Amino acid sequence: VASRDGVLDLELVAAPARVKIGGRNANVQAFNGTLPGPTLRVRGGDTIRVAIANELDTPTNLHVHGLHVSPEGNGDNPFVSISPGESFDYEIVLPNDHPPGTFWYHPHHHGHVADQLAAGLYGAIVVEDPEPVPVSRERTLVVSDITLDGTGNPAAASPPEKMMGRQGEIVMVNGQVRPRATASPGEREQWRIVNACPSRYLRLTLDGQSLRLLGRDTGRLPEPVDLTEVTLAPGNRVELLVDARQGTSTLLSIPVDRGAMPGMMGGPMAGAFPADDEPIGLLTLDVTGPPADEPDPVPAGPALRDLRTAPVTARRTLEFAMGMGLGRGMRGAESMMSFTINGRQFDADRNDITVRARTVEEWTLTNTSPMDHPMHLHVWPMQVLDDGESPTWQDVVNIPAFGRVTIRVAFDDIVGRTVYHCHILDHEDLGTAWIAAPS
Ligand code: C2O
Ligand code: CU
Repeated sequence: VASRDGVLDLELVAAPARVKIGGRNANVQAFNGTLPGPTLRVRGGDTIRVAIANELDTPTNLHVHGLHVSPEGNGDNPFVSISPGESFDYEIVLPNDHPPGTFWYHPHHHGHVADQLAAGLYGAIVVEDPEPVPVSRERTLVVSDITLDGTGNPAAASPPEKMMGRQGEIVMVNGQVRPRATASPGEREQWRIVNACPSRYLRLTLDGQSLRLLGRDTGRLPEPVDLTEVTLAPGNRVELLVDARQGTSTLLSIPVDRGAMPGMMGGPMAGAFPADDEPIGLLTLDVTGPPADEPDPVPAGPALRDLRTAPVTARRTLEFAMGMGLGRGMRGAESMMSFTINGRQFDADRNDITVRARTVEEWTLTNTSPMDHPMHLHVWPMQVLDDGESPTWQDVVNIPAFGRVTIRVAFDDIVGRTVYHCHILDHEDLGTAWIAAPS
């Protein structure tokens, strides 16, 4: 669905849907009946008008993940609650200079995020580049995962899965199990890859093909960078240029070490996710036929703003921790897990950080737990400080187990109250979300 005359008008119905996944009947939840929901294509300056009807039996809402837009009112407001049977009209206005890139949407109702995403509620958003890279074609690849029980319903997450983050047994690209794609030798393709899995990390390779990184979450690199593999934490996106070479290649997700929870549930949990030990084939690319004409060279993109030299107004430390304590409102098996940032759990009424508009802050993210946590801040993208020569803008930054990462965030004149949280969505629902409130 593309915008026209600066407006994208869309109705999204969040409802149970029956689809086939890898030949099996599945009772998923979907936007407009498909996995993923429709892809939204917009440009800087556009207004996205989405009317959401909630036909689920749980409350929901909508988050436009990664868009640099207002979190207030009927914008990208994570505090909206749409009850079953109700609907809500969003109006999301992109600034004129919104960076191009691949973004996505998913529900963000606290307490239901992981379940609704795991059941199938997600879709891609493309913000078009005013100066697109010359390619033969673009592919938007939304990677997601699901576990189905014997009756074809999404399986409920077990307590260890809530602790570690659930990983679905079936991994899909655009709702299909290992789809095939074809290209001619010499063609250049632009792949927009979204990690829409609730908790799975994707470490991607494409054997036999040469890959170049065109951009990460937000914006485009001035020059594409050669790479052989790329890792996406949950919520991350990448844009890759694939210069097709003759042959058959498989887009693989290869094992990722994202830490483990030793000693939980009577033993190490490193083996809790067998899918982690084996490469998973996501998509098969067949490159055959007569060679295509040589594509035009990739023009240099605009330089990215570099925050490393920016004056910093405030420095903060955010400590991500997991513990065995009794969390607010938790019972039974759940009482074993708690997830905190700076020792506190989610409280929608509290502002954890208040920042000033038009300032740059430096945050040191520390992780005292034995597993990785991908930290997501809404609205304002972050730059990782030690990211090498060409800093990219990200909205999900992975903090390795027992590790630390220093980021800088540029707050501008978009103001309002929103959240930051771990994008292992079972952790988000355990109470990770906190508030940043520029004023
Ligand atoms: Cu993709 Cu706060 O979420
Ligand atoms: Cu986490």
